[in-house]
Amino acid sequence: MTVLLDTWSTEKAEEDGMTDEHTWIWRQMIAATALPKGDFSRVLDIGCNQGGFLRMLYDQTPFAKGVGVDLAQDAVAMAEARKGDRPLSYIASTDLKDAGGGFDIAYSHEVIYLIRDLKDHARQVRDVLRPGATYHAVTCCHADSPLYAGWREKIGGFSKIPVPNHSITDISTAFLKEGFQVTASRFLANAAIPLEGPSDYFPSDAARLDTYATWKIMFHCTLPA
Ligand SMILES: C[S@@+](CC[C@H](N)C(=O)[O-])C[C@H]1O[C@@H](n2cnc3c(N)ncnc32)[C@H](O)[C@@H]1O
Repeated sequence: MTVLLDTWSTEKAEEDGMTDEHTWIWRQMIAATALPKGDFSRVLDIGCNQGGFLRMLYDQTPFAKGVGVDLAQDAVAMAEARKGDRPLSYIASTDLKDAGGGFDIAYSHEVIYLIRDLKDHARQVRDVLRPGATYHAVTCCHADSPLYAGWREKIGGFSKIPVPNHSITDISTAFLKEGFQVTASRFLANAAIPLEGPSDYFPSDAARLDTYATWKIMFHCTLPA
């Protein structure tokens, strides 16, 4: 089991920058997986970092209870400090049991690629979801994406935990073996993608468009009802 850390990244700018950089993607994730209206749902965010995804989700579609889990204790403390009066709790842990159980839906954004033992992850997710619930796991960091080899080296330079090299099939197989039905979507294929010119992650805007549209994958892992 991975130990708890203060922060995930050795670079403060990388860690603190994620909230702003990921906001437009979280919006697309929410649009792609609209929750039922009503305040009955219990939502889990795995690898929540500073908690922005659940805050956005609650503000758009209120739910009964949200729990974010992350191994980075400082990020979890920030998430707690920022939650306001929303029904959210953030927990520093790598063991999903600590979040409780019976979740109606779970998400992770750019976390599954950092999970070394996908089989254990799939088992943990299975154990905290209610029957029929879905885990939506999003990542662009996988061995099938042409830019990932370079990203993996770059991220490995600041991530305090190892950066694996899972393929799309590695991820789906882990969940299929735990009894989930697994589908996947290219949920940014028709999204308006912010263009910023060449960056550390994208050599050009054309590469940014291609990569997000083609390789940013949302896995939908659903337990039998
Ligand atoms: C790239 S960041 C993404 C954060 C956030 N989901 C977002 O969209 O901005 C990955 C996060 O996953 C967390 N993480 C990695 N492995 C984890 C594990 N086994 N359990 C809990 N959190 C984990 C890291 O601490 C980090 O906060």
